[in-house]
This record gives sequence, structure tokens and C-alpha cells, in this order.
Amino acid sequence: MCGIVGYVGQNNAVPVVIQGLQRLEYRGYDSCGIAMMNSEGLNLEKVTGKVMELQGLLAQKKNSTSLAIGHTRWATHGPPTFDNAHPHVSQDGKIALVHNGIIENYKVLRDELENDGYQFRSETDTEVIVGLISKCYHGNLEHAVREALSYVVGAYGLAIVHADEPEKIVCTRKGAPLILAMGENEYFVASDVAAILHYSKDVIYLDNEEIGVLTPEGIETYSVADEPVVKKIHKITFNLEEIEKGGYEHFMLKEIFSQPQTIYDAMRGRLLPEEGNAHLGGIEHMIGSILHADQRYFTACGTSWHAGLIGEMMFEQFARLPCEVEYASEFRYREPLVDAKSIVFAISQSGETADTLAAIQEAKNRDATVLGICNVVGSSIARETEAGVYVHAGPEIGVASTKAFTSQVTVLSLLTLKLARLMGMSESDGLEIADAMQRLPENVEWVLKQADQIAEIAKLYADASNFLYLGRGVNFPVALEGALKLKEISYIHAEGYPAAEMKHGPIALIDKSMPIVAIAPQDKTYDKILSNIEEVKARHGRVIALATRGDERIKDIADHVLYVPPALSFTAPILNVIPLQLLSYYVAVERGCNVDQPRNLAKSVTVE
Ligand code: F6R
Repeated sequence: MCGIVGYVGQNNAVPVVIQGLQRLEYRGYDSCGIAMMNSEGLNLEKVTGKVMELQGLLAQKKNSTSLAIGHTRWATHGPPTFDNAHPHVSQDGKIALVHNGIIENYKVLRDELENDGYQFRSETDTEVIVGLISKCYHGNLEHAVREALSYVVGAYGLAIVHADEPEKIVCTRKGAPLILAMGENEYFVASDVAAILHYSKDVIYLDNEEIGVLTPEGIETYSVADEPVVKKIHKITFNLEEIEKGGYEHFMLKEIFSQPQTIYDAMRGRLLPEEGNAHLGGIEHMIGSILHADQRYFTACGTSWHAGLIGEMMFEQFARLPCEVEYASEFRYREPLVDAKSIVFAISQSGETADTLAAIQEAKNRDATVLGICNVVGSSIARETEAGVYVHAGPEIGVASTKAFTSQVTVLSLLTLKLARLMGMSESDGLEIADAMQRLPENVEWVLKQADQIAEIAKLYADASNFLYLGRGVNFPVALEGALKLKEISYIHAEGYPAAEMKHGPIALIDKSMPIVAIAPQDKTYDKILSNIEEVKARHGRVIALATRGDERIKDIADHVLYVPPALSFTAPILNVIPLQLLSYYVAVERGCNVDQPRNLAKSVTVE
């Protein structure tokens, strides 16, 4: 949720930390701060607002230091105020700490510390960790951190410094992301690789409760049992350009337009067009277990949950394998019927979503096999699952997920194809599907060419207060996703509905001020959707229809028509969601909203 960056090395740490925080602003953005070590001890600067303001403040003071830790906050406990902003400093002014995550038992800990006479400055859960470390400190910071955290229940990524050990940053994590990285005689800690990619591509992923100690001499890592551990150094394979805007006005637009490439990347080396089949290296050895499982589940949140709904429909329709989709946040608490003969797929862009991690733990506690469908390489979900498939969408910076969704659906389509062939799908059907998938990037290009037309339509509807999205079959989750995108970035209330359900309630809402987005491809439900559109028109609703290229009939009843190339139901969700992504983008721009950083949202939700 929040962002962490720390630096120790030969250079001035301040610009490194500030630039890192700016790259992390998409993760948390209501206040920020930095703790700098100098010969007199700790120097702290915090602001409510953007990193740019902190940067301005530091520029005036001309700070320079070789060790600093910084933070961008997304408020959970206590509003975004100066006092609640990180870093938090101990009562004696010697310890500074930045935290990403949530401390569940903070109330009890706070009461205990207050009884001991400790005075808190903030309303945050984080400050109890500073108090505890201060209480446990006897000359060695990493030992104090380990002892203090033994009292803590919750999730954390932490970077901590102590004025008595001025060349050291101690880092640890549990259930929240944290990476360490090395450059030449300089070392970094960050909650996301984007923060330090400018300086280093050699990273270490800390496992839960491991401790990393960064000094100008290097990085030392210790296990939970305080034994030194040798960690693997991973090479980051994506570039800085991939996390920059590349000429687009917003990251979201760049990400929407990158989908021909990202969909191709998700299929590369996996789709076997000549065989009408697919090969998914990461879970090839699990295919038998997936086929023979007693239960199959997809669990995820938000947009990734919508991908799961599409996965469910494809599994059942094409591979004839029953399967369930569960919100990760519900799965954990509803005593799921999961056991050693169950397969649970966790779908996640960030790989850090706390609810999804909790669902994985629940499934594991019940002895299920848990597989991951993740974007972020080396993320917690990728590491907590037995095996998995990366969707290879590259870093997604815009808070509203776009390219990760289409890559998730692409991977689910490949998996369905593989399973369906094993379940008896004919070679000719497999070849037809593989051919349609292979042509997806060019068809997505075709859809993207309509961006200008969509921008014009968006202008006409930007003042609406409500939208209804209608779709059937695999296009129902697409309707849900279209509505979610609009809500998230333009703050217009929107709902997705199975088209035929409209007459069972939502039809009461329709009048001339209610725009309806009707997904109406020429498939087996086409005539039924046309009837639904007629029902809307009869009540003076305004209709934006998504139709198959060449469909002239729909022009007579819809107010606007957006075309997509003809598609099989296998590839339809990917093509159909793209105009809806663009529509929400242009509506949000028209309304002057902060597209990449919508209010109240953060890119990865690392609290339950
Ligand atoms: C929507 C969106 C969220 C995420 C959800 C799950 O645009 O981004 O709904 O899909 O928070 O996140 P991941 O996929 O990272 O687990």
C-alpha cells in the first residue's frame, strides 16, 4: 500500500530516495517523508501531499547524506497528517522507521507501551513498532528489531535506522513486499523494484521474517533463527523505459496501448499454433492434478477476480471441467470445501494483495494445491504458491488494471486450450482457437485505432452520474470490468449486469439520463441483446453498443456503435474489454480526474 525506499552508499542518498519515492507514488500518495543520517544524528523531513513538495523542501535546505530512508503513505490508521506521516521516530529521537503493512494487535501494544510511559506522537499502528524496538534496543539494531517483532501480529515491510549505528539500515518483511538491491558500493531497499531500477537490476527477495542489514560494506541477510543466509541475486529483466510514460499522457493510456505486445508476450513460446494446443512450462507438471482434482477454484480480488470469472466460463464450456470463483476476501472466512484433492488458482497482478495471500494460506491450511497466475515476478504470491504462470505484462503503473487483465485472460485461455485438448477437444477446434489467439495482437491493434471515436463519445457522456453495462456469457464479466474501470477512475457510479437480468430490476433506473453500454457481439445471444437494447430505447435510455465489425443492423437502434473484429467466445473478452478501458479513460480525462492515481485507491492492496 505504502512505498519504501532506502539507500546507503558513497553518493548523496537524498536524490536517490526522492526519485525512488516519486516512482512509488502510484502505490501511496497522501503524505511522505525522509529520515537522513548525519554526524549530529537523525534529520527528519515530512510533508502532507506529494513527493514534489518534499523535494522542494529538501532543495531549500541543501541536505546531503550517505544514508537515508523514505516513505510515501496511503492512510490506514489515522488521517494524512504531518504526525501520521512516516518516518516515525522513537521518543529519544534515535530510531527512525518506515513501514508498509498493518499491525493487527497495535492497540494492545500501544496500551502496554503507554503504561510503561512511552509517549506516542501519531495515531498510526506503525509507531508501536518504533516504541517496541526502542524498548528492546541494547546496542544492536537487528537484534532489537527481531525481538520487537516477536510481539507483533500483522503484515510489514520495514526499513529502520538508529543514530548510534549510523551506517546501517535494517530491513525485514512479513506478508508485505520488500526487496534489497546492490549497485557499486551502494545498496538499496525498496518496496517495489521500480524505485531502484535506475540504479540496480541485481535484487534479493527477502523471505518472510528474514532480516537484511545494509551498510557501506554490503548486504548481510539472516534467517528467522538469526543464522546468516546466502540469498540468490535475481536479475531484473525489464527496463526503466517500461515504467515510464513513453510519450503518453498517462500510464494508463500507455498500458492500454501496449496490449498488442503484452498479449503477445503472454502467449510467446506457450501457444502452439501448428498443434492447436498450448504449453505452460510453469505448471506443465501439474496438468494431471488439475484435470483430476475434485474441486477447482479461482480466487482473486477486483479486476483479477473478473479474469477468474472468465476462466471459470472457459474451463466449463471448453474443457468441461467444473470450477468455482471466489472473492479472496470471502474465501478465507467461509469455511471453503477445499481439501488435498482441490486445486486453487490465485490470480493477481501485483502478487502482493493481502486478501489473496490470506486465501492462499487458507487453502494451504486445508492441504489444497495452490497455483499462481501472477504478473510481478518474485512477488509474495509467486513465492507462496506451489507452481504458477507469469503473465508477463511488465510493470503496471496506472492504478486501474488494464494490460494485466488481458494478459491474465490470455493465460487462462491458454490453460483452457491445453485442458480442453486433453479432455477431448478435436484438433480442428484446437487449431481454430489457436489461430484466433495468434491473431489477437493484430485485432487489438485494430480496436485501438478507434480511440479517437471513443474519446468523442466520452465527451458526450462525461457528465452522467450513473452507467449500466450489459453483457451475456463471457461478456458479463467484461461488463463488470468495464463498470469497475469507470467507477475507479472517473468516480461515476456504474454497474455491470447480465443483459437479461436488466428486466428483473435495473430497468427501473432507465431514463434519458442513463447511458447503457451494451456488449452485443454477433454470437448466439445477439438477438436477445438486441431486444434488451430495444427495451432500453423504449424508456429513452442512451445506448453505446459494442458490436461485431460489419453489423449494420445495430446502428438503427443504438445511439453509438463501437466495432470489434469478429471473435470466438475464446478471444471475445479480450477484444471487448479494450473499448471499455478506453471509454473510462477518456471519460475520466474529460472530467479532469487524476487517471493514474485515482482518489482512495492504491496499486497494491497489502492490507486485508
Ligand atoms: C482494478 C484493480 C483492482 C485489483 C485488485 C487485485 O483496476 O486494479 O481491483 O485488480 O486490487 O489486485 P491484484 O491483481 O494485484 O491482486
